[in-house]
Amino acid sequence: MIEIAPSVLAAHPLYVARDVGRLLDAGITLLHLDIMDGHFVPNISFGPAMVNALHQQYPDICLDVHLMLSRPASLLDAFIKAGASEITLHSEAEGDLRALLQTVRAAGLRAGLSIKPATAVDTVLPYLDVLDLVLIMSVEPGFGGQKLMADTLSKMGQLRQAGFQGALSVDGGVKQDNAGIVKRAGATRLVMGTAAFTAPDPRAFLAAVRQA
Ligand code: DX5
Ligand code: ZN
Repeated sequence: MIEIAPSVLAAHPLYVARDVGRLLDAGITLLHLDIMDGHFVPNISFGPAMVNALHQQYPDICLDVHLMLSRPASLLDAFIKAGASEITLHSEAEGDLRALLQTVRAAGLRAGLSIKPATAVDTVLPYLDVLDLVLIMSVEPGFGGQKLMADTLSKMGQLRQAGFQGALSVDGGVKQDNAGIVKRAGATRLVMGTAAFTAPDPRAFLAAVRQA
């Protein structure tokens, strides 16, 4: 069954517990946390303290942490200690990606790599042996509420042709009315920010996305 990962970036910053709680009550067991440094992307979101607060409040929820950081090495340990279940780096980031991904796995977390719309799948291929997940950005990272860039979806078929058998996640502009297209393009996980947090009836929304 398709995984749905609401992006906490889209929760109201003053009412995160209320907004996240509504989705968890509707059956969500996975949350996506967009970490932004204001350098890799032109926005700043939240850090390890938010991850830890969510982990303390919801210890059984899987925390899918997406590091949009230019230098992920500087905060990797902090996010591991904060309670992340998975950590996804960007192939465009600085540092020894293989070593960083191995550090994530050695800590017992699942490791992922993400590519921006303009980045080719080739940049991920050298790391497939240390990846549990590839995150396809279907918008230019930095902000929620953008329109999905459909030409990014073909990257998932390329990854399967290259032999990748792990999770394929799509992040950016995924909504109820395009979820079917994204799933048929090969996604096993849908990151949904605006669509998930603005759904008037979260349970009906999740059922509709799963049936799309
Ligand atoms: C961009 C963010 C968004 C977010 C999803 O950097 O990563 O893609 O997760 O936002 P929506 O679902 O509102 O496009
Ligand atoms: Zn994300």
